[in-house]
Amino acid sequence: MKIAIDGPAAAGKSTVAKIIAKKLGYVYIDTGAMYRALTFEALETNTNVEDEQSLSDLADQIKITFENKEHGQDVFINNRNVTNEIRDHDVTSQVSFIAKHERVREKLVEMQRQLSESGNVVMDGRDIGTFVLPEAEVKVFLVASVEERAERRHKENLEKGFESDLEQLKEEIRQRDKIDSEREIAPLVKADDAIEIDTTNKSIEEVAENILSLVKNP
Ligand code: C5P
Repeated sequence: MKIAIDGPAAAGKSTVAKIIAKKLGYVYIDTGAMYRALTFEALETNTNVEDEQSLSDLADQIKITFENKEHGQDVFINNRNVTNEIRDHDVTSQVSFIAKHERVREKLVEMQRQLSESGNVVMDGRDIGTFVLPEAEVKVFLVASVEERAERRHKENLEKGFESDLEQLKEEIRQRDKIDSEREIAPLVKADDAIEIDTTNKSIEEVAENILSLVKNP
């Protein structure tokens, strides 16, 4: 069984995907974390975000791995734990530029498909239902208003003790969605056979229950 969860930035995909994976005992695969890990490495090595060849070479050189933890999932690049670093503002603001490149996507999609061969998986991202796992039995497209998504991120940031500016978050979310939706290769779009769930004014538990019912009655 493969469950694909796609949608725009900060729509709650990873939180919901983790709950579902835990409840069903499936493997959770966070594809955004892979694009973020490559972006982190590009920034560390001063690789230009427009240099497709160097970025694709970099993707070949690094090994991105995940380790499941009680609180979620840790992300490693060549055994270095970069779980927190890949959520940094610098990475978030650059990741969509790196994710535009065809050769970069080819490399990461290959890794994602390999990981999905491990059995039952819940995979979240932007192009899972349309491109990475078009054969997924359950496909969900999560949406929510920009205001709601920015508010949720803002709250999360404050809870973690990070500085946070609500208006800036709204602008960044809008910009990331625009780049992700307008790119030529595997853009952010709902798959024809995906079920759209608007999470505005819904709790995470409600959304998870909604998806779990689809798994039982696909
Ligand atoms: O899901 P998350 O916000 O961590 O994703 C970070 C970025 O990675 C997205 O804004 C997008 O540019 C890219 N991404 C992608 N395809 C995916 C997952 C993420 O292009 N399947």
